[in-house]
Amino acid sequence: MSLRKEERREVVLRIFRGTGSDRSKDRYETFTVPYQKDMVVLNAIHYIQSHLDSSLSARWNCKAGRCGSCSAEINGVPRLMCKTPVDRYDGEITVEPMKAFPLIRDLVTDVSDNYRVAKMIPPFTPSVATDHVWRMYQEDVEKSQEFRKCIECFLCQDVCHVIREHKAEYIGPRFVVKAASLDMHPLDALNRSAFMKDNAGLGYCNITKCCQEICPEHITITDNAIIPEKERVVDRHYDPLVWLYRKITYRSVKQNAKQ
Ligand code: SF4
Ligand code: SF4
Ligand code: FES
Repeated sequence: MSLRKEERREVVLRIFRGTGSDRSKDRYETFTVPYQKDMVVLNAIHYIQSHLDSSLSARWNCKAGRCGSCSAEINGVPRLMCKTPVDRYDGEITVEPMKAFPLIRDLVTDVSDNYRVAKMIPPFTPSVATDHVWRMYQEDVEKSQEFRKCIECFLCQDVCHVIREHKAEYIGPRFVVKAASLDMHPLDALNRSAFMKDNAGLGYCNITKCCQEICPEHITITDNAIIPEKERVVDRHYDPLVWLYRKITYRSVKQNAKQ
């Protein structure tokens, strides 16, 4: 039965402690903090740092769900600490670092590899000069606007079992969203399907939708980005009619070039 807010006096947190350099010292420590109305997990972490243990490390910036810095696993689920009310939980709350990334210290992980992956995505390539006057229709804007809401919290990367098991081979949901935002831009003329098939490891994703369920920006990652990107790859590389058409048109282009 859920604890009524007026009955709650304190919050008990079980927090992961450790450093990436010596995993033999990994442990959990329990802290009890006074409850406040509308308290979120990040408030409790700040109370611990100010009053109980100043050595506890946690990353945060905006306290408003905008910067994507305070990502952690709360009772085993990837969440933003600043957007997770303690009232969501009845008993002890376990807070751990994201497990898909190397540990730096306590709740802080090294997410820098994501910036290397970001550079792999073939960039925006307009079909006309960017100073060209271009009329964009609202439906075109809406297609990629949803993807621009991404705050790069990397919670979707953290929850993805493919990233956890085959990190080197799959760019992950955040970067499929990035590729989709470019592919759906009406000015972009580049075909990224070969990259998505051969370099991005899109085939590893088995559409479990875990990433979509935990995205704090409610981006429909799987339905609106991953599935259309998979369809582009299939259309371009596996559809026999498209393959035949490209074969014929490629041959006629070559023949014309010889004449
Ligand atoms: S797509 Fe959603 S979960 Fe993934 S990094 Fe962006 S905001 Fe975070
Ligand atoms: S839908 Fe694909 S990208 Fe998203 S969590 Fe599942 S396997 Fe990973
Ligand atoms: S502190 Fe910025 S998203 Fe949580």
